[in-house]
Amino acid sequence: MVIEIPELFDASEAREIRNALENADWSDGRATAGHRAARVKENEQLALDHPLARQLADRVLARLAQTPLFIAAALPARVLQPRFSRYDGRGHYGNHVDNAIFPIPGTGDHLRSDVSSTLFLSDPEDYEGGELVIEDMFGTHTAKLPAGHLIVYPGSSLHRVMPVTRGTRLVSFFWTQSFVASPEKRRLMFELDGAIQSVATDHPEHASVDTLTQVYHNLLRQWSAT
Ligand code: NI
Repeated sequence: MVIEIPELFDASEAREIRNALENADWSDGRATAGHRAARVKENEQLALDHPLARQLADRVLARLAQTPLFIAAALPARVLQPRFSRYDGRGHYGNHVDNAIFPIPGTGDHLRSDVSSTLFLSDPEDYEGGELVIEDMFGTHTAKLPAGHLIVYPGSSLHRVMPVTRGTRLVSFFWTQSFVASPEKRRLMFELDGAIQSVATDHPEHASVDTLTQVYHNLLRQWSAT
């Protein structure tokens, strides 16, 4: 399931973040890729302990926590610190699958990457190429979204970033461990949630709203791990 979340940040917030990033010190992105992924990765990243990286990551995390569509789609148990990367001058990231497990820096703990997300920070007209291409069980999904929009997709998918042939592509990306590890079960929860919202809006007094809500929470109780 690939879900687009419009305006996680509005255009002026995205511009503010982009301006802050444009003057930062960037480093080679291969340092953070797994062994196979490093062979196909060509971009630059902001070091995780860079003060700006921390500050902007906190801003992204705070916004996610207030975004019902992200919560319904990802059912987030925890989110790894969002990272920032820059593609220009033919930067690209070939077909790869993300690592399944990531250490959580500064702790002995780990996070399972059930859900991958990319937050577009550059305006699509400011660069050529740079599409995110995601292959999951439902086929191929290509995304090049307006600045401030987020795309959420299964961590299990193969994906790639097409070469950037003009301009600069800035993104933030991050992994989420979900309360529900299975992408199929997460999809069912998401669809049920959407249907309940619709019924509750159109027929707020209908007793089915309570029953369906009960089913939702009891399914979540069965399918979740904390
Ligand atoms: Ni990836």
